[in-house]
Amino acid sequence: MAEAERRGVDKGLYIKTYGCQMNVYDSTRMADLLAPLGYRLVDAADDADMVILNTCHIREKAAEKVYSELGRLRARKLDSSRRGERLVLAVGGCVAQAEGAEILRRAPHVDIVFGPQTYHRLPEMVTRALALPADVAGRGVLDTEFPTEEKFDFLPETASPPGIAAILTVQEGCDKFCSFCVVPYTRGAEYSRAAGDILAEARRLVAAGAREITLLGQNVNAYHGTAPDDGKEWGLGQLIRALAEIAGLERIRYTTSHPGDVDEALIAAHRDVPQLMPFLHLPVQSGSDRVLAAMNRRHSVDHYRRLIERFSAARSDMAFSSDFIVGHPGEEEADFAATLALVEAVGYAQAFSFKYSARPGTPAALAPQIPDEVKTERLAVLQELLWAQQRRFNEACRGRMMPVLFDRPGRHPGQLIGRSPYLQSVHVVAAPCHLGALLPVRIVGARQNSIAGVLTGAAAAVAMAAEASA
Ligand code: SAH
Ligand code: SF4
Ligand code: F3S
Repeated sequence: MAEAERRGVDKGLYIKTYGCQMNVYDSTRMADLLAPLGYRLVDAADDADMVILNTCHIREKAAEKVYSELGRLRARKLDSSRRGERLVLAVGGCVAQAEGAEILRRAPHVDIVFGPQTYHRLPEMVTRALALPADVAGRGVLDTEFPTEEKFDFLPETASPPGIAAILTVQEGCDKFCSFCVVPYTRGAEYSRAAGDILAEARRLVAAGAREITLLGQNVNAYHGTAPDDGKEWGLGQLIRALAEIAGLERIRYTTSHPGDVDEALIAAHRDVPQLMPFLHLPVQSGSDRVLAAMNRRHSVDHYRRLIERFSAARSDMAFSSDFIVGHPGEEEADFAATLALVEAVGYAQAFSFKYSARPGTPAALAPQIPDEVKTERLAVLQELLWAQQRRFNEACRGRMMPVLFDRPGRHPGQLIGRSPYLQSVHVVAAPCHLGALLPVRIVGARQNSIAGVLTGAAAAVAMAAEASA
């Protein structure tokens, strides 16, 4: 249903989110911000009076997708203006921040371009855009500065239903300037939210049904927010301990961490806080000290390996995930072999790996580049090893009892999907009333990307009764 057919102020808002979890979080906050203007989320661009593309600039492919989507939306916008309707088209996120006015030049039908640090001003931008002629012709509203005011101070309280596994931004931005990465330029300087604000948001999420919260930050373990009571600073470890006091919050996770910012308090939190999941995504990028130096990662392979050992000593059931880049400028065969050796030594439960993608404005983009065939070949070798480790990890879960938080319906009726402590998707025959429950599951099957399990005891009886009556 488009605007003309709709009554009152109820307008459709479609947000397409690319990139990382932080963008997912930002999209929900954008919806919260636009609700007072009468915008309600819809599931398809065709039903929308406003479309927001919340974009990612991390690799070339991610950024290209935005322009092809804008091409498709051009036709949709022409159609709606022929019908006398006004479709507002907005581009936010990291491509918007990186390219700014260039987007209005390349896609003159865009009404609004805004950055990750200005989206609290969206209501005002929408009002300004609606005052423009329908054919904005490259004169859309542009707001991509890094304002001195802090956007979190201007966001309304979280209102969107959080889901059973919720996300909560605690830290944003990055001062690390890894040679390959756009994030310091697109998200701006590192910033931590006050602990009291985070605790209040977490309590609201739990009151609205969340059982698990993932704390988000581009460098989440660089967190150093003002403490609620004495105005001193809390690190991530202290924040996690305070969150663990919230009744009804059964699981805590955090992502993404930098090896250089791990401190003793964080490791101790894994030892002492049972709600903190024994799973850590700790990106290393490369297993070669030479490449790590070229990447400006500011940590050595040995430091990383010692961290893994310390986390494992704090909690014996810890498992690890990581990010890897192959083909960073300067990476030679021996460096790549060192990455493979590190993977062998750590043994990952899961990991992400990427071909290095030269990003405009970053130092590594100016260095001599590795040919694409070499990158492709190295990626294939690394992925094979990582996939084998993931399969092995999943296989090793067979026969184990694991607590599973059921957070979504399964593919078939009578099935639910949950998450294990290690973020594996667990497929289980369960009753609809088990959605949102944290139940012990016996793992009976393992695949590349998921595991399968069965409920036991009373929960199994409830699931069987539900299946019989379905
Ligand atoms: N803040 C996180 C990572 C953010 S980006 C951290 O510090 O680890 C997520 C992942 O994308 C990175 O860990 C890296 O592996 C990958 N990445 C970033 N820039 C890239 C580039 N130019 N080419 C390929 N992969 C990249
Ligand atoms: Fe990018 Fe490095 Fe910052 Fe991570 S730590 S966001 S990879 S610059
Ligand atoms: Fe992408 Fe920006 Fe996240 S570049 S990965 S959306 S911080």
